[in-house]
Amino acid sequence: MNSKTITILGSTGSIGRATLDVVVNHPGQFEILALSAGRNMELLAEQIKRFRPKFVVVYSEKEADILREMNPLPGLEIGCGQEGLKQAATLPENDIVLNALVGAAGLMASLETIRAGKNLALANKESLVVGGPLFEAEMAKTGAKILPVDSEHSAIWQCLNAGKTSEVRQILLTASGGPFREREASTFKDISREEALNHPTWKMGPKITIDSATMMNKGLELIEAVWLFSLPPEQIKIVIHPQSIVHSMVEFVDSSIIAQLSNPDMKLPIAYALFWPDRLPSDNGKADLATIGQLNFYEPDDCKFPALKLARQAADMGGTAPAALNAANEVAVEHFLNGRIGFTRITELIEKILVKHNVIVTPSLDDILNCDRETRRQAAGMIGKE
Ligand SMILES: NC(=O)c1ccc[n+]([C@@H]2O[C@H](COP(=O)([O-])OP(=O)(O)OC[C@H]3O[C@@H](n4cnc5c(N)ncnc54)[C@H](OP(=O)(O)O)[C@@H]3O)[C@@H](O)[C@H]2O)c1
Repeated sequence: MNSKTITILGSTGSIGRATLDVVVNHPGQFEILALSAGRNMELLAEQIKRFRPKFVVVYSEKEADILREMNPLPGLEIGCGQEGLKQAATLPENDIVLNALVGAAGLMASLETIRAGKNLALANKESLVVGGPLFEAEMAKTGAKILPVDSEHSAIWQCLNAGKTSEVRQILLTASGGPFREREASTFKDISREEALNHPTWKMGPKITIDSATMMNKGLELIEAVWLFSLPPEQIKIVIHPQSIVHSMVEFVDSSIIAQLSNPDMKLPIAYALFWPDRLPSDNGKADLATIGQLNFYEPDDCKFPALKLARQAADMGGTAPAALNAANEVAVEHFLNGRIGFTRITELIEKILVKHNVIVTPSLDDILNCDRETRRQAAGMIGKE
């Protein structure tokens, strides 16, 4: 098998680091063309020394100066911000771009990857939540594909091989239920930052960890699945599965349910996306079902976790509504992490934004970017008034 040339956006994050572990575990299979980080220059410098990329991207000129001072690789080209991410995503040598940025900040890099005709291994679910209406047309123009990295969407992708899309009755999108699955809803307002950051099964970056605690992560994944698999929201059912062994399922019209199982380990879906259409031998996520013993499934509680209802509402509204939902969520999560608002305020704020939102049903890129910017301003204003 020929080696693949890859760019990893967000290489200093949880998914970015796991991707580099996959690269290390498969010597000779990958060449790292470009890496990107936000502000963690120490880790980026270590990665540069080890993987010797041709190009790196950092958050701003300030981080670029710090990195130049560290001089991890003489002559290394350094880009900054959104322009730098675009440059990395469109380098002609790329075979695959893996987008592990967090938030809507990943949207343009995803779009530019597809526009450049390169396959996009997508962890940054916010790209599709925010810009979903734009991707289909861009993919049709260039033939580039989105290869899901989110474990649930990787599972669905794998299960879909068992039948035709027209034979799908519904997708069963599994959710661990997060750290507050069993907690009394009346105590949710007292949830601290530390409690919310303590996820029972997955070790992830802070934003997705809070999204998992509110269950907005599952809501975002529902919208991501709508775009990835061209299915209406009503054909996607969320199922609580506390063990996080079944990563999602597809039910076909003959009532067969096909599932993908493994122990929770993001290296498995990352490797599946990077090696697709092949599978390479690996023990990542290897599961012994007899030891696991039990797999439980039950209905989610939308009253306890209003984020699920809100995301479904935004998916039904369509157009710019998911972009508004996402922007409000990003602002609210940031303020929760900074200690400015309480846990239950996150979804209250999103609800207020969604109620006021005037949907543009068939948005252009500018409409989406305006919606993102304007919603952030509104949400920050609402928090400022409290
Ligand atoms: N973690 C998981 O297990 C998991 C599973 C499924 C899907 N995902 C999805 O994967 C994405 C990444 O999640 P994560 O947990 O890996 O996040 P993370 O650990 O917070 O990492 C985010 C990465 O993006 C960089 N970054 C953050 N803001 C940026 C900005 N404005 N401009 C440029 N770079 C920026 C960070 O750089 P610095 O750290 O250098 O500042 C870091 O490299 C998210 O969309 C998440 O929903 C994650």
